[in-house]
Amino acid sequence: MQKTLLSGVKPTGEAHIGNYFGAMRQFVDRQDDYRQFIFIANYHALTSVSDGALLQNLTLELAMDYLAIGIDPKKTTLFLQSDVPEVTELAWIFNTITTVPYLSRAHAFKDAEAKNKEVNVGLFDYPILMAADILMYGADIVPVGLDQKQHIEIARDTAQKFNRIFGETFKIPEAMILEEVKTVPGTDGRKMSKSYGNVIGLFASDEEIRKAVMSIPTDSKGVDEPKDPSVCKVFAIHELFPGENTEALRARYLSGGIGYKEVKDLLVEKIIAFVSPMRARREEIARNPEAVLKILREGGEVARAHAQRMMDDVRGKVGLTFK
Ligand code: ADP
Ligand code: TRP
Repeated sequence: MQKTLLSGVKPTGEAHIGNYFGAMRQFVDRQDDYRQFIFIANYHALTSVSDGALLQNLTLELAMDYLAIGIDPKKTTLFLQSDVPEVTELAWIFNTITTVPYLSRAHAFKDAEAKNKEVNVGLFDYPILMAADILMYGADIVPVGLDQKQHIEIARDTAQKFNRIFGETFKIPEAMILEEVKTVPGTDGRKMSKSYGNVIGLFASDEEIRKAVMSIPTDSKGVDEPKDPSVCKVFAIHELFPGENTEALRARYLSGGIGYKEVKDLLVEKIIAFVSPMRARREEIARNPEAVLKILREGGEVARAHAQRMMDDVRGKVGLTFK
């Protein structure tokens, strides 16, 4: 039987090349081989976006991004998380079998606490809603970036715990993380992230791409000095792009004879060549937002039908309904 692949991205800002190489590209590459559910995690986005009009905007933008990179709604069920309100019910049920100390160990929560942020309950419970997303559709594999690994482990633990208490119900999902990508660095050297303002936008203009690349920090080695490619953030981004000259570039780093200006110019060219066709497709798609909303609506109906079947079973098992 065909296996099920599921993943989502939050509509919290401009999609960037970290999202693409870490996660989104796999959604396109695998849609012929898996029963695929891809969604826009707008309930999750509410933990950080508190402006309704903005969230609507970001949601539509992300839907267009998905289509522009090549998600085919005939092969993939593309939908809004909130068109399946059953996930919040499942998350509630999972909450009742999850302990506070267990969730307190989640990295995202610990990081937010360490920064003395006022953590909202939604952020604390984020991994449980994510577990509900994953387990609801019986996902076998979940392609994500490395930073989401712990969340998939929490989904696995939650499935096992529920199955142990109420009987075999949920499949145990596997994370699918591209080893060669790991974490794409941002223009400040930290993880590229929508929330850090350090991104190279996947659909950015040529000028924006140039500006972002030029701002990546490097050391102060001169043109002729040998350089270590493995610690250079510009090289790390070069490596993401398929093609010819990465090995030649590595050799030039090691031997000396290439300056960071040239390395960055080459990277700008590479990125522009790679994103141009997707950018053009996106412009085309953006002309007809109604068609995009229709795709989401139809995807939502398909996803919801799955969720309702799953919830019938779950509600019966936990004793909410009488059979
Ligand atoms: P962001 O941190 O930019 O808000 P999301 O949390 O919405 O990104 O992540 C969407 C997907 O992209 C996730 O699977 C995540 O693991 C992946 N991802 C995000 N940033 C990176 C990065 N810098 N490198 C690799 N993958 C990433
Ligand atoms: N937490 C994920 C992120 O920040 C988004 C997400 C929500 C997700 N639910 C999911 C990813 C289920 C995979 C599966 O990127």
